[in-house]
Amino acid sequence: MQAYSYFCPTRIEMGTGKSLELSAILQSLGLGSSILLVSDPGVIRAGLVAPIQSALEAGGFSVTLFDALSQNPRDTECLAGAALFRETSAELVVAVGGGSAMDTGKAIALIGKNGGTPAEYADGHLPYHNIAPIVCVPTTAGTGSEVTRSAVITEAATHRKMTLKHAALRPTLAVLDPALTYSVPPAVTAATGVDALVHAIEGYTCRLTHPISQAFGAQAMRKIVTALPMAYRDGRDEQARYEMLEGSLLAGLCFGSADVAAVHCLAEALGGLYDTPHGVANAVFLPHVLRFNAQENIALHARLARYMSFASDADPDELACEKLIAGIETWTAQLNIPKLRDLPGVREEDFSRIVELSVKNGSTPSNVRAVTAEDYLRILQEAYRA
Ligand SMILES: [Fe+2]
Repeated sequence: MQAYSYFCPTRIEMGTGKSLELSAILQSLGLGSSILLVSDPGVIRAGLVAPIQSALEAGGFSVTLFDALSQNPRDTECLAGAALFRETSAELVVAVGGGSAMDTGKAIALIGKNGGTPAEYADGHLPYHNIAPIVCVPTTAGTGSEVTRSAVITEAATHRKMTLKHAALRPTLAVLDPALTYSVPPAVTAATGVDALVHAIEGYTCRLTHPISQAFGAQAMRKIVTALPMAYRDGRDEQARYEMLEGSLLAGLCFGSADVAAVHCLAEALGGLYDTPHGVANAVFLPHVLRFNAQENIALHARLARYMSFASDADPDELACEKLIAGIETWTAQLNIPKLRDLPGVREEDFSRIVELSVKNGSTPSNVRAVTAEDYLRILQEAYRA
């Protein structure tokens, strides 16, 4: 019998138009009046930040905007944000954006209060405590960072993707407003949505999973597999956008108390080396890792195939696994995600470096099937030939 624990103290506010209630919600929570608002230039250009900032200022909050961050956020950017947090005597961080803004916001809330560098926390040299309240307002349906205990930050000097991970990094408040995702372009919708599906699959199958994670994961898979192609084809499909934001939230609740696994280890290596968007990097490896994992875990993967309606209850498990791989390949093909070999910068000469980074990733031991450097290399080569 399995022992596990589950802890998620994040208050979740979900609903169309909810982001406009942020000021009132923050007033009721009393987290402080001086806000460092963390976002990225793309989200600001899309016009999503100004209404939120104005509403906060009208509500009596003092707001400073920090937007100097990359799509794969760097430790140097977190340090600049933390310095601004201190200079402005901020009391809380409000992150409006995708995973980059939310993960940077978490690192700033930690370092702004306590000093140090992201590496010192990720490598276990500094304790996670006394973290400023973190409020997340996601503008993409994918990362789930609004409810997770982790932040993935790239070490600029080495390209290493580090994971800051601690229960205290869980946001105090997550405000989910599907209307903020209506203007997300199709390619970003596809990539971030696949990331959410991979969170559900890896959270459900990894060695640290438990029935609570699996309950969230199964529901997330069902929603995302149907809603993502609809949201991709028509960004104004309000029901599909709602289902995707909810699916991404459920996927975050799934992997956030378990782990991710080999798809993410490879994807993070790729993102660290080439700045590949995280969801695209996940998508190119997903079917190949599933094929590798399913060979030794047939009943488990047959369940995934049935949750996502790629197979029926009547299909024997082995057939259901085959349908899972074929189904995922067809499903990602309709989202027009580029192939590994077509991604900017990717070269076969770098494969040994990608393997090395993947093996070192803290989530490699969580993969449901033991995965070695040789296995990673084979999966990479398979994905490159696909
Ligand atoms: Fe992810």
